[in-house]
Amino acid sequence: MSDYQVFTQQIKEKTGIDLNLYKEVQMKRRLTSLRDKKGFKDFKSYFVALDQEPDLLSELLDKMTINVSEFYRNSVRWQVLEKKLLPNLLKKKKNLKIWSAACSTGDEPYTIAMMLGQYVDLNQITILATDIDENILQRAQQGIYTERALKEVPSELKDKYFTYENPHYVIDEKIKKAITFKKHNLLSDPYPSNFDLIVCRNVLIYFTEEAKASVYHKFSQSLNSEGILFVGSTEQIFSPEKYQFSVIDTFFYQKID
Ligand SMILES: C[S@@+](CC[C@H](N)C(=O)[O-])C[C@H]1O[C@@H](n2cnc3c(N)ncnc32)[C@H](O)[C@@H]1O
Repeated sequence: MSDYQVFTQQIKEKTGIDLNLYKEVQMKRRLTSLRDKKGFKDFKSYFVALDQEPDLLSELLDKMTINVSEFYRNSVRWQVLEKKLLPNLLKKKKNLKIWSAACSTGDEPYTIAMMLGQYVDLNQITILATDIDENILQRAQQGIYTERALKEVPSELKDKYFTYENPHYVIDEKIKKAITFKKHNLLSDPYPSNFDLIVCRNVLIYFTEEAKASVYHKFSQSLNSEGILFVGSTEQIFSPEKYQFSVIDTFFYQKID
């Protein structure tokens, strides 16, 4: 086994995270650059150090998880959800069950809550928001954002749901209450079920083809009949019928029975 393979095995034993389910070239490049920056000549000595120093481990996990996000990321796609798909889902039932998977800093679940708030009472809304990274979930729960993260938020929603506390924007408690944040590893934890909408964007690109296929199968099982999966703008599913999905719009898939 190579130095890197032994390292991935050790990381799996220590954290439960299987780095082999992420595309190797990218992951190895990212982790090697961090290792070099920290002054370790190989992964063996790097592991010995991070096994003893929680800060080093936490930095490694940060590096592997890439937390970039923003509200209404790729806003044209979100408009499809807002104007076409959500109203259709709401015709059938008002208390939709929604999961924002790999939610990072929370921009995505908060976007969904603001959108739904235009159609239904916010008290009726429960969105499960999950990520593998506990630190990022803590930040998400605080709901504090830079101007940049909000650049696509329509101005009336920005005025309604954010308070400006120089130099940041803080999200309203009513929106926060609609979200339940929880740690969840898409590659190893059991999947919750009975969802009408699953939003999972800009994480599947990091996974191997086999890992992706397994995630699609599990999402399909987690969706109710006619439930919708919304993926990122580079994450089109090839042969969606393999997972009981039909395409209902670009980057939106509907569960068919
Ligand atoms: C680039 S962000 C995407 C955030 C958001 N979905 C968006 O599109 O703006 C990727 C997120 O995936 C999370 N992640 C990486 N591997 C994961 C896994 N195995 N299970 C759950 N989340 C994971 C990272 O922690 C990170 O927050």
